[in-house]
Formats: sequence, C-alpha cells, structure tokens
Amino acid sequence: MAETMKGLKRSHRCTEVSKANIKEEVTVMGWVQKSRNKGGIIFVDLRDRSGILQIIFEESEVGQEGFAKAEKLRSEFVIAVKGTVQARSGGINENLLTGDIEVYAKEIRILSEAETPPFPIEEDSKTKEDLRLKYRYLDLRRPDLQRNLILRSKITTMTRQFLDEEGFLEIETPMLTKSTPEGARDYLVPSRVHPGNFYALPQSPQIFKQLLMCSGYDRYFQIVKCFRDEDLRADRQPEFTQIDMELSFVDVDDVIDVNERLLAKIFKETLGIEVSLPIQRMPYQEAMDRFGSDKPDLRFGMELKDVTEVVKDCEFVVFKGAIENGGSVRGINANGQGAMPRKKIDALVEFAKTYGAKGLAYIAIQEDGSIKSSFAKFMKEEEMSALIEAMEGKAGDLLLFAADKNKVVYDVLGALRVELANQLGLLSKDDYKFVWVTEFPLLEWNEEQNRYTAMHHPFTMPMEEDIPLLDTEPGKVRAKAYDIVLNGTEIGGGSVRIYQNDIQEKMFEALGFTKEDAYERFGFLLNAFKYGVPPHAGLAYGLDRLVMLITKQDSIRDVIAFPKVKDASCLMSDAPNVVDAKQLEELEISITKQN
Ligand code: AMO
Ligand code: AMP
Repeated sequence: MAETMKGLKRSHRCTEVSKANIKEEVTVMGWVQKSRNKGGIIFVDLRDRSGILQIIFEESEVGQEGFAKAEKLRSEFVIAVKGTVQARSGGINENLLTGDIEVYAKEIRILSEAETPPFPIEEDSKTKEDLRLKYRYLDLRRPDLQRNLILRSKITTMTRQFLDEEGFLEIETPMLTKSTPEGARDYLVPSRVHPGNFYALPQSPQIFKQLLMCSGYDRYFQIVKCFRDEDLRADRQPEFTQIDMELSFVDVDDVIDVNERLLAKIFKETLGIEVSLPIQRMPYQEAMDRFGSDKPDLRFGMELKDVTEVVKDCEFVVFKGAIENGGSVRGINANGQGAMPRKKIDALVEFAKTYGAKGLAYIAIQEDGSIKSSFAKFMKEEEMSALIEAMEGKAGDLLLFAADKNKVVYDVLGALRVELANQLGLLSKDDYKFVWVTEFPLLEWNEEQNRYTAMHHPFTMPMEEDIPLLDTEPGKVRAKAYDIVLNGTEIGGGSVRIYQNDIQEKMFEALGFTKEDAYERFGFLLNAFKYGVPPHAGLAYGLDRLVMLITKQDSIRDVIAFPKVKDASCLMSDAPNVVDAKQLEELEISITKQN
C-alpha cells in the first residue's frame, strides 16, 4: 500500500540541493529515474522538474526496513527521502547540476509505485511521436518538454509584467461568441437554449478588443486561446494561444515601438540575446521581390532576381509564354552548387512542382566555365551570357529559374530558397533575424469567390495616400498592416484599424458586402463606432510559434502541453468523439452522416 507524506515536508527540489547544504538534513520527493543495486549499497537517481539528484541507500543509515524498500524501487516510482547531504564519494559527475553532491538516505517512503512506462523517460526521446502523444502525461515528464513549458511560463510571466508596466490592462473576452473576421473556418458550439443556433469559438478576440477601445480601456492585452478549423502544419494548431493587444490613440510606429521593446526583453531574459533595435522594416513588395515570401528568412542570401527584361526576346517558349501571359521569369543563384548531381537537381524540380511550378529551368556553371543547362538549346549564346551575368553567375554556381504568373514564381522560388538553405545547412537555430513586413496589400483577389477578400481583416486601415484607389484600383491599395517575422516564421501580425464610417463602408463595398451583410456580421462593432471611437491599432503574437523558436524546436507541438495531431484529434483523450444520444436530443441535433 502506498505510504503517505505524514510528518515529512519537502525542503528542496532536487537541484536546489547544493554544496552549500553539505552536512544538512534535506527532504526531497520525486520520481525514480533509475536505481542501481551494487550489493549493500543502492544508488538512485531521483528526478523532479528541476533535474536529478543522487540518493544513496545503505542499511547502516536507512535501517533494514528502509533498505528493503530501496531494493524494491523501479523506474518512475514516486518516493520521499530524508537524508544528509554530503560531497560525492565516487567522483564528480560533470553532466549533472548536482554532480558534486549526494544525499545519504535516513528515511524513505514509497508514495506510489509505477508500472513500466511504454517508453523511457529520457531527453531526446527516440520514441515515435504518436506513442508519446498517447501517453502525453509521461512524455511531459521528459526534461526537454519540461524545459520548454517552464520557458513558456517564464515568457508569459515577463510579458504580463512588461505590459502591466506599459499601462496595459489584462481583460478577458468571451469564448462563446459570434463568428469573427479572421477568415478561417469556425469551430461551432450548439446552443441548447436556442436550438438550431450556434456559438462560434473565437478565431481571435479582434472585435472585442476593438470594442474595449471604444469603451475607453486604452491599452488592453490578453494571453488567450484562439480556435481555427484549418489544415494543420508544424506551426499550426486548431487551438493556439495569442498574446493579443490593442492600443488607443496610436499609429503604426507606436505599436511597433512597444512590441520591439517587449521582444527585446523576452530575448534578453530567455536567451541572453540583445535584439538590436529598431528592427528592420521591409515593405511587402520588397519582401516578395527579394525573397519570394511575405515572411522572409533573412538568415541567408540567395535572393530572387527578376530576369524578365533580360530574356524577354528569347525564343524559349517557357520563358516567352510566361511573359506574354503577364508573368515573369525570376531566378536564384545557389552559389557553389554548380556540381550538384543531376538526380539532386531533378529532386529540386519535383519540389518546385509541389509549389505549383510547371518546371524549373537551370544552368549549372562548371568549374571550367562550361555550362550544363536544361534550356541552353533554346537560347542564343549571347542570351545565355546575358542571363548568367544578370544572375551574377560564376564558375561553380547553380542558377535556377521559374517562369510563370508572379504568384507562382514567388511561391516556387521562395520555397526553393529555404529548401536549398536547409539542405546546405544554412539555417542555424542560434541565429535570430527579425524583420517587420509592412505595407501589405489591403485586399487580395479570391478566384473561387470571384471577389476581393481582406488580406488581414476587414477593419484594417488603408494607407492614407492609397485611399482614393479604393474606388478605382482596390487591388493596389496598401494597408497599415504589419507582421513581425522571425527566421521565416510569422510570429505576429496586426494593423491600424479603420475608425471612420465612410472608409469602413468603402472597405465593405470593395469586399462585396452589402450594408445589410456587414451589419448582420459585425453590427455590434459598427454600432459601437457611432458613439465615439478613438483611433486604435493592435497586434497579436502566436505565442506557440514564439516559444518554439526560442526553445529551438521544429514544431509548436513541442511547446504545447496537450497538442493535437494533423487530423485535429487528441491521441490521449480521443477527442473529438461521439456524444450521448440524450445530449444530441437536448440540442435538437440529428446526425445525418455516420462515418
Ligand atoms: P493573425 O490571424 O495574423 O492576426 O494571428 C496572429 C498570430 O497568431 C499566430 N497564428 C497561429 N499559431 C498557431 N496556430 C494557428 N492555427 C495560428 N494562426 C495564427 C501567428 C499569427 O501571426 N486579430 C489579429 C491580430 C490583430 O490584428 O491585432 C489576428 O488574429 O503567429
Ligand atoms: P521542356 O521544353 O518542357 O523540356 O522544358 C525545358 C526546361 O524548362 C526543363 O528544364 C523544364 O523543367 C523547364 N521548365 C518547364 N516549365 C517551366 C517553368 N514554368 N519555369 C521554369 N522552367 C520551366
């Protein structure tokens, strides 16, 4: 039977015990990492969230009964030990924080026994993620995950502290609400009291935080769960956490200023890294032209070059056709990769195709200056020379070209650039490169819906000088929107909001909403604006992504205690799941399609 802690009180976490405690009596509690019986003496590594401490059991000290208990210990038993701290007798273990001491047990209690876990509780687990997620409570005992979650907690604490000092108020907004404007699919919650009606879980607190500005709260923040039913990836979960904020009487620079200082504090206090301020800003168009992406990774070069002008008169149908269709030809120079084997180049072509490319044209410049190329036969010699020159190609370089509509060319080369950098080992996780991407297009054309949609959301303010274009060329209007990008990941985004009725109406018009549509969806915000609204702006971080980058993980699953997998299910709890017929009846819901 499990023993109790009666009469014992934990005095230290494992690694809080140190040389300073030598000869003192301590009481520690935790899990048995491992136990070695050397005959007459038993060594136990005791683990808690702080780390590991070595405990020594000898019958002379712990007594016959105590020693018999120590002999029973297996991995993951939970025990309490009272004993005396002494300097390590058997040589210092440099790998442990407590490697220079050990605790000589006088008393032991077995608080809980444990079955053999389905995988070892250890750093850098080799166990498949699915099995770890099924037993997430065991996975979470592993030191790497514990460190991630501890750091996450530190980051939210310092964020709260910083924002409090900057005059922000933490205010909660509802989870059972109406559809929000972020544009992903909603998670719906049926109402029992209003059969046939549904709440939507918030994709973000966007409308509520704008209402709080109308109510005079001036500076709001919230560390808040958001829900989006979208396809999952390594940096996307159906429920994720934002550090969300909104400020009144401010413009772009004010939001950027406070957030740069927040980021600098977080990076200084977690990684000891000085973020040099101000963080570079790059207009959206420049990011696309140079990096093929609105979240450029600035840890390496390999920038895109537009060679449309250089090849516009050539006879190569692939280039010619793309240009005639209003597209472009652009390339990247993979310096020093001219000797890449054909097979590897072919793999890059296949990779490009997954981003919509019809192909990828290349020139591999050999060390002797000769070239291997997939399209030289369609080009005149001087056209090839001009192209190589435009790409600053040297002996030993590999030049890769995409020809298509601009969007495809950007997508393909943007992704290829990162793929190559990854293959070439250019993406160091210790290198942190921030950039604000600004001046996003206000609207983007949606082919499926045959109308413009808001690139950020419908309350985003156009740039003043572009407002007249709303009537004539809405696609050209730039927005007062900004994303903060770190190493090619969008860690946050926000905008200055529209607070004038006439601009908001124009915006809805451009989006193809009638006044009735707009009121039906967002009437409570539009009505609030009639009663005095301050100019306001805000931003939200993806906290999970920020913590992922700071902890140098590849997936946000590693910084979320109980994440979901690709099909949005939880392998541990088996959510989502069927519910009782009675529950459905109460909600007046009938299921028409069973899987
Ligand atoms: P946005 O939609 O850009 O803006 O979201 C803000 C940040 O949230 C993170 N994020 C996600 N993280 C994990 N999983 C997801 N599915 C996911 N979706 C988004 C990203 C993103 O930058 N209300 C606006 C903010 C504002 O305008 O103030 C908003 O939600 O890091
Ligand atoms: P083809 O004449 O189809 O053999 O194409 C010649 C070369 O052009 C091959 O290397 C193709 O991969 C490449 N290619 C085809 N379509 C494109 C495109 N849209 N952009 C760049 N290269 C392409």
